[in-house]
Amino acid sequence: MIDQVRQWVVDARRIAVLTGAGMSAESGVPTFRDAQTGLWARFDPQQLATEEAFRANPALVWDWYAMRRAMIAEVAPNVGHVALAAFAQRHPGRLTLITQNVDGLHQRAGSPGVLALHGNIMEDRWLDVPRTCCGTQAPLPGRPPKCGVCGNLRRPAVVWFCEMLPEQAFEEAERAARECELMLVVGTSGVVYPAAGLARMARGRVAILNPEPTELDDAADAVLSGTAATLLPQLLENWP
Ligand code: NAD
Ligand code: APR
Repeated sequence: MIDQVRQWVVDARRIAVLTGAGMSAESGVPTFRDAQTGLWARFDPQQLATEEAFRANPALVWDWYAMRRAMIAEVAPNVGHVALAAFAQRHPGRLTLITQNVDGLHQRAGSPGVLALHGNIMEDRWLDVPRTCCGTQAPLPGRPPKCGVCGNLRRPAVVWFCEMLPEQAFEEAERAARECELMLVVGTSGVVYPAAGLARMARGRVAILNPEPTELDDAADAVLSGTAATLLPQLLENWP
């Protein structure tokens, strides 16, 4: 089956790739829903990954993201991230990378134009105003930092539960899905929408790369049972 999918990669002029937390598992970043090691097995997402939770206890949520940032700063992109970046650099404009991940590892591996549907944990923004707050002075240090004039808080620049996705990124992701000849769906359980829905609107063939069954397997033309760091180099490297 992998040879079949590799041939689809060779033949496809436009490829969309949708990645999830499993893409970074071999870099040492925990996934969300793994029963033993997943983040949501140890923390209650409703207590941490919502605006309501942040407003109720800003220091707790800020500290949790600071802990994740520190962990992510210590890890490196794996060979799966590198294979995607190298392919995109060798074939400019042919591959559109859409990720649900907030760890920035695709960007650090050198992938261009990453559509980060859920934001980037390494960045933060104002809670109550979208861009600038009361001027140019830096926020006062704190957990979280805050505006010295109006007290507005900084928050992680990630998409929380019940929040809208970044409109332009999502529109570009939908367009890539609708125009591709092939979509590779890598390391996602496919349980969270609207990201997972992109795999159901793909114009072309859909190949899933995952060591476990997913909620999207029924929409796939091929399911490759394996990890991102094993399968992506096999599919994308050693090209003429
Ligand atoms: P959800 O089921 O509430 O829907 C996701 C959001 O996308 C909702 O605001 C919904 O209105 C919007 N949406 C739904 N369909 C859409 C479409 N077709 N076009 C544009 N927007 C659409 O999802 P959720 O489980 O509450 O989570 C919200 C988002 O935040 C999800 O994408 C989730 O993955 C993300 N999230 C990120 C983290 C993180 O740490 N990065 C944690 C939790 C959730
Ligand atoms: N290679 C490929 N896939 C892997 C690997 C690996 N090495 N290790 C685990 N996986 C798979 C698991 O089998 C699972 O299907 O990665 C998937 C991880 O699923 P989730 O933990 O649900 O993560 P994800 O699908 O990215 O979650 C979607 O939900 O909480 C929100 O915003 C959060 O972006 C996240 C979204």
